[in-house]
Amino acid sequence: MRKVKIKSEADTRKFGEELARSLKAGDVLALVGDLGTGKTTLTKYMARELGIMEPITSPTFTIICEYKSGRLPLYHFDVYRLAGIDDMLELGYEEYFYGDGICVVEWADRIEKLLPENTKTIKIGFGDDPDERIYTCDF
Ligand SMILES: Nc1ncnc2c1ncn2[C@@H]1O[C@H](COP(=O)(O)OP(=O)(O)OP(=O)(O)O)[C@@H](O)[C@H]1O
Ligand SMILES: [Mg+2]
Repeated sequence: MRKVKIKSEADTRKFGEELARSLKAGDVLALVGDLGTGKTTLTKYMARELGIMEPITSPTFTIICEYKSGRLPLYHFDVYRLAGIDDMLELGYEEYFYGDGICVVEWADRIEKLLPENTKTIKIGFGDDPDERIYTCDF
């Protein structure tokens, strides 16, 4: 486990950019952390690095947003409001998880059983200061 201390949103940006550069097609990134820890914010900075210029918003009501204008497709999931695993089957999640792009999954602990074996996970917690975050990475 690697622990990264994020001191500000600028650090989140730097981390997100570096991470996006290191990922390749078929990678799944699981983001686990409470409301407001910055899962969407991190995803937004990753998307910028991939060359995606559309605004990144939480796909809370759609479960998934697809962005295809960048260097690699980005599939952004937010499974917070998922009624059950059936919703994931219905949207054909395997096509995405074992597909041609990068998947980022907010609230991924809610679908832990469906995550591929080589999923990279970041657990995000709050720090002492309002803009501080602690990332615990399993990669
Ligand atoms: N170091 C930081 N990293 C990320 N966001 C930060 C940081 N410091 C402050 N923030 C602020 O915290 C908020 C994080 O909101 P965001 O929507 O990204 O969280 P989230 O984890 O996706 O929440 P949700 O569970 O509701 O989807 C933003 O308003 C952002 O500006
Ligand atoms: Mg979010």
